[in-house]
Amino acid sequence: MRWKRKDLLDLESLSLQELEYILTTAASFKEVTGRQIKKVPALRGKTVVNLFYEPSTRTRVSFEVAAKRLSADVINIAAEVSSVKKGETLIDTGKNIEALKADIIVVRHSASGAAAMLARHLKANVINAGDGWHEHPTQALLDIFTLREKLGRIEGLKVSIIGDIAHSRVARSNIWGLTKMGAKVTLCAPLMLIPPGIEETGVKVTDDLDQALSEADAINVLRMQFERDEAGAFPKAWEYFKTFGITEERLQKAKKDIVVMHPGPINRGIEMSSEVADGVNSVILEQVTNGIAVRMAVLFLVAQAKNGKKANSN
Ligand code: NCD
Repeated sequence: MRWKRKDLLDLESLSLQELEYILTTAASFKEVTGRQIKKVPALRGKTVVNLFYEPSTRTRVSFEVAAKRLSADVINIAAEVSSVKKGETLIDTGKNIEALKADIIVVRHSASGAAAMLARHLKANVINAGDGWHEHPTQALLDIFTLREKLGRIEGLKVSIIGDIAHSRVARSNIWGLTKMGAKVTLCAPLMLIPPGIEETGVKVTDDLDQALSEADAINVLRMQFERDEAGAFPKAWEYFKTFGITEERLQKAKKDIVVMHPGPINRGIEMSSEVADGVNSVILEQVTNGIAVRMAVLFLVAQAKNGKKANSN
């Protein structure tokens, strides 16, 4: 197929064919990252700007490494030290970055829809690196890529997503990606952290951790986003760990070769014990490594689409 999307904003609007195409492209880039000379000239002469309005370690560095391996020039902008502090709007900032000849803008923002808004106003390609509670498409793509690498397929797999689903853009993107690819998804959390109506996406919901673990081929464990608990209604960390924390003991009851994922950052002793995070079932650091190939694929593909098209036109 020929890639036509100018931007990558979500997984909700991607077809199965497009998802597969990104994953296949990522697999060929993974081969490149295993070579002695890890660089290819695919984006030589292009400029990628990482525009981050929220904290990030993995995602920002991963996009930077990916862009550099494609031979692009990379500029990092952290909102705390930019003119955003002086009151500049997101669109003005974006237009100025574009006027400085950026080809691709990777944006992280606390508002859902921020990346889509930028994409509508700019000719540059826009990649969503996490917008509010909405989506974090490249994270889900790297989760799915890792899962497929480990278990050989996605179709028919039982995947439980455990933790603070309500505030998680990672969960939403995983739900879209996994269900489109034929996985059976169960969400497990205290019910106050499950968004109402989420079953409509075809997932199962439970607040019984042992049930979510018992049949799962893989689990994706999410951080409790205490910083988004405006109402102060979250369970306390110790309470949460007692009921929903993933421990060795609990994993004993799961499939022996269950794949344990986490998008990071981990809060050890809250959503997961250190033994599990560092244990034999954990693929957490492999996810981070795979993030490079997946982001190379996304940067490469959006750059193929003609600039100046309307966002997400097919
Ligand atoms: C997450 C995020 O920022 O959405 N992390 C990530 O990008 N790998 C999840 C989180 O903050 O818990």
